[in-house]
Amino acid sequence: MLLLGIETSCDDTATAVVRDGRDVLSNVSTNQDAFHAKFGGIVPEIASRQHLALLSAAVADALERAGVTLAELDGIAVTAGPGLIGSLVIGVASAKALAYASGKPLYAVNHLHGHIFAPFLERDAEPEYPFLALLVSGGHSQLVDVAGPNDLHVIGRTRDDAAGEAFDKTARLLGLGFPGGPAIDRLARDGDPLAFSFPRHRPDADSLDMSFSGIKTSVRYFLESAAGKAARAEDVAASFQAALVDVLIDRVDRAAARASYCSVVLSGGVAANSALQAALRAWGHRTNTPTHIPHLRYCTDNAAMIAAAADRQGNPLLADARALSADPNFAFDRTSEPVKKA
Ligand code: KG4
Ligand code: ZN
Repeated sequence: MLLLGIETSCDDTATAVVRDGRDVLSNVSTNQDAFHAKFGGIVPEIASRQHLALLSAAVADALERAGVTLAELDGIAVTAGPGLIGSLVIGVASAKALAYASGKPLYAVNHLHGHIFAPFLERDAEPEYPFLALLVSGGHSQLVDVAGPNDLHVIGRTRDDAAGEAFDKTARLLGLGFPGGPAIDRLARDGDPLAFSFPRHRPDADSLDMSFSGIKTSVRYFLESAAGKAARAEDVAASFQAALVDVLIDRVDRAAARASYCSVVLSGGVAANSALQAALRAWGHRTNTPTHIPHLRYCTDNAAMIAAAADRQGNPLLADARALSADPNFAFDRTSEPVKKA
């Protein structure tokens, strides 16, 4: 299938044209970081207004770069949730209009499923089912058992902050910009991960849940102490990152001990983290488990992954979008976290 993907769940206005859920013909993303940076986080109202201003041009750009017309597409895939409601509305309304105008099927995609299918993009070796997905982004941290494209179960989740949120908040404590993940990643390369010991969350033996607020709080208290004031920011960043990575790898290890997986997939914005990638690869070598990590450009939010998920999952929300008018709220029934479809 040749699909146009649209992703506007947060602050990236993203469009892409993807063939067969694998070959990316175009991948367009207008990053809004400059508009949100001075507020230290994403401002939903600003994000919606930017999507409104940028999306039509982004759709035209993706089609032009791919060298295809709307008429040549097999369908339109759009993120239907979860995400910022104002941002989602812009993407879904635009996708509805395009599907209506072109008479193409409309695919409503769960954003988290998009992340899980990102490692299938532009790769020769695809993850084999069943696989375990470690999904770590700015809004979510989950372990997902993926038995098939439409057979997903969340088996572990964060009890407080998402991993990306912990990166962003800790970066703020260190006086780094937003988003903080890439800044900590860079700084940590010149730091000693063993310089300071921040606490690692350990759940009950039967749980795969995770928690990151303790690490973040202990960095805060440390930075307020005399030792913290004298510490090199590089060492603090590396030690914080090491603690967070330890927790994630420990949960992957526990999950893999419970069930037999053909491979482990790392996805979401935090999958771009170099220390986490290295640790997961090392774990894969140690346990003889294939690991799959998306190309860097498909780790953070993008529209190609939305088209990839729609291609694998099939099941269009509306085969003929012209039937839309009967149910104007149709697209918001796929906002749940990954669950097994009935
Ligand atoms: O998946 P994503 O683009 O958006 C959400 O769906 O949340 O993830 C964004 C998150 C941010 O918290 C950002 O700080 C984090 O991913 N991130 C990183 C890195 N690159 C992005 N965290 C750690 N290391 C990185 N290199
Ligand atoms: Zn995301």
